Amino acid sequence: MLSEEKNKLLTEVGLGKPMGDYLRRYWHPVAGVSEFDDKAVRPIRLFGEDLVLYKDLSGEYGLMQRHCPHRSADLAFGYVEKCGLRCAYHGWEFDKAGQCTHQPYEEIIDSEARLRKKTKATAYPVRAKAGMLWVYMGPMPAPELPDWELFNYKNGFAQVVLAELPCNWFQCQENSIDPIHFEWTHNNWTARLQDPTAEYVPTHLKVEYEEFEFGFVYKRLRASESEHHPQWTIGRVTLWPNGFYLGHHFEWRVPIDDQNTLSVMWVFSRVPKEQEPYVQKSIPAWYGPLHDESGDWIKSHVANQDFAAWFGQGRITDRTRETLGASDRGVIMMRKRFFEELEATAQGKLPKGLITDAAKNQNVVLPSACRDELINGMPRAEQAAHPLLGPFLLDYIGQYGQPDAVREAYEAAIGQKTQRAKYFVVHGAQGN
Ligand code: FES
Ligand SMILES: [Fe+2]
Repeated sequence: MLSEEKNKLLTEVGLGKPMGDYLRRYWHPVAGVSEFDDKAVRPIRLFGEDLVLYKDLSGEYGLMQRHCPHRSADLAFGYVEKCGLRCAYHGWEFDKAGQCTHQPYEEIIDSEARLRKKTKATAYPVRAKAGMLWVYMGPMPAPELPDWELFNYKNGFAQVVLAELPCNWFQCQENSIDPIHFEWTHNNWTARLQDPTAEYVPTHLKVEYEEFEFGFVYKRLRASESEHHPQWTIGRVTLWPNGFYLGHHFEWRVPIDDQNTLSVMWVFSRVPKEQEPYVQKSIPAWYGPLHDESGDWIKSHVANQDFAAWFGQGRITDRTRETLGASDRGVIMMRKRFFEELEATAQGKLPKGLITDAAKNQNVVLPSACRDELINGMPRAEQAAHPLLGPFLLDYIGQYGQPDAVREAYEAAIGQKTQRAKYFVVHGAQGN
């Protein structure tokens, strides 16, 4: 249980709030590169700020305040130029640093362009990496944008899967250090959605947590598994500060504002050995819906089940009401580390896990229970029997709503048709 004051410390992300300012010290993925194949500008809200994200005519990306500094026209209606964005109302143009670079009528009246030179909008750097657009909204100099090893694996099909969730980021991130939920939110719930009397999967017997440079590792052991199981010997990564790494995919929970979160997944599906060599031409990005045609929350896919758990806790969950137990040891450790970090960074310490040395930012390895399989690949039959990777050959189970074009590209990559099943595969005794 936390006091109201401590809950606010964890959940408030606006500018000037300790957590908001802390999270701004990291790069965050906020969109798919492929979104800009057919559009140049779109609005986006991040950390409580209304902004526009754009790709200019030189193919470079920018992020700036949504409302024009002139008379607040919506820059989402702006048009891109060779170097930056122009407001559609009176034609003021801005470069990627937010500097006004053209004020058409003002410069006729004042050839020295004094007003233009002193007009500067809020703008932030944007970088493209792994099919995602990443933004940095903190003080300069910016740290390195992490070059995680998974981004560099070969012979795989990657996709960026997004959703906007109606709840605070921190309850989403607490899920990244919550191994017990796999059993109940995914395996058992899926089973019971299909058969109200279905047997439950083997329960968890032990969980362990260890802190390391880039977050925490959690390990879990189920009744059906030996202590040699990779989820016990290696485990999974609670990626600091707002990510989750499961060996074959990343998840990030990026604050839109205090009450909303952008969920971003980057999923790597290794093609079977029979499909090698496979080179992906471009990484697709897509947004999945939260509701089905009848207005019900979608509960059929892994991420949708997580979403339901998170926003079911309330827009900003009230942590003064909770009853914590042994299963919450990781959550407690993570909260404690955040409180310590907020204090330490206020004293000038560098935030946890920031990479500031370019030489160290090459193919950065994180613990992974399926690293060998993803690097080396497996014949189709062996991959199909793999408890973690096998189900992805049958269907894209990660999140509901995969567009047909993405599915077709995915099927071509893995060399087989997928099922489009209503529910993802129940993993039975092995669990995922
Ligand atoms: S409001 Fe943007 S140029 Fe006038
Ligand atoms: Fe989950």
